[in-house]
Amino acid sequence: MPQAPEFHDRMLSLGLARVSEAAAIACAPLIGRGDEKAADQAAVNAMRTQLNMLDIAGTVVIGEGERDEAPMLYIGEEVGTGEGPAVDIALDPLEGTTLTAKDMPNALTVIAMGPRGSMLHAPDVYMDKLAIGPGFAPGVVTLDMSPSERVAALAKVKGTSAGDITVCVLERPRHEEMIAELRATGAAIRLITDGDVAGVMHCAEPSKTGIDMYMGSGGAPEGVLAAAALKCMGGQIFGRLLFRNDDEVGRARKAGIEDLDRIYARDELVTGDVIFAATGVTDGNLVPGIRRDGGYLTAETVLMRSKTGSMRRMSYRNPIERSQPGR
Ligand code: FBP
Repeated sequence: MPQAPEFHDRMLSLGLARVSEAAAIACAPLIGRGDEKAADQAAVNAMRTQLNMLDIAGTVVIGEGERDEAPMLYIGEEVGTGEGPAVDIALDPLEGTTLTAKDMPNALTVIAMGPRGSMLHAPDVYMDKLAIGPGFAPGVVTLDMSPSERVAALAKVKGTSAGDITVCVLERPRHEEMIAELRATGAAIRLITDGDVAGVMHCAEPSKTGIDMYMGSGGAPEGVLAAAALKCMGGQIFGRLLFRNDDEVGRARKAGIEDLDRIYARDELVTGDVIFAATGVTDGNLVPGIRRDGGYLTAETVLMRSKTGSMRRMSYRNPIERSQPGR
């Protein structure tokens, strides 16, 4: 019997970068145009077209939603030519639809790929998240600690005071209490309006971003994508699913989740080795956004492999009139 092809992450990584590049390029004309839906749709179309060119038997495990909610890149959709390794794919064709529509920083296109079964099939519910960068003993901070305990614990191991810690938090009414508690510690807070995949990734390069820790609730699918990024970059992330009603509990059960209160560590969110690509749509601290200059369009991508911990920063330039996804 012929052997199933292996997941050759080195070979597939350039293909993955093309997928996230194409999505970012497709939404470039929609940056700052006030139309979230159009920007998202453009990214989805381009990402799907590119994915279907790859020699993989891919299944979307983190996608645009359930099959009845999303016509494309829905959870369970099979992508690729089918002529290659069986892989799972987590994607967010446009992470930061509102950031893109308003031309605000840190909108990204994001995709991760690993062998079948390598990523948690997180339902589309909220997740309580906590992340720090690399270089700390496991469990220095935990989700069971209060926000102020986390700041104190991180300051202690860094040999500094709470006032030197910067925490990134999504600006939401549900976080008001947490923000007040953090303020009382003396820590600085970087409030972001959207985009917690970037928020978590920022913890991995604190010297560049100024962010030491990420906390708060956001999308669970974004939590898995952020875990994939940190598995490549180094750093810790913990997540616990949050349920607001029976429908959300049902979604978790459907995704095969039995223990609803479980705290997942990074390597439980992403169990296998993955490759991860993110392309800047708007300018960000880790990756610049799409540029138009002298008739050319330039897209910057970070491409990473968890097996090696390697990161490539790739710059792709193409004449604007020929920048059609799929060419
Ligand atoms: P979109 O790109 O789908 O708009 O999501 C952006 C985002 O900010 C995520 O980064 C985050 O996880 C989630 O939305 C937070 O959800 P909410 O806006 O409901 O607080």
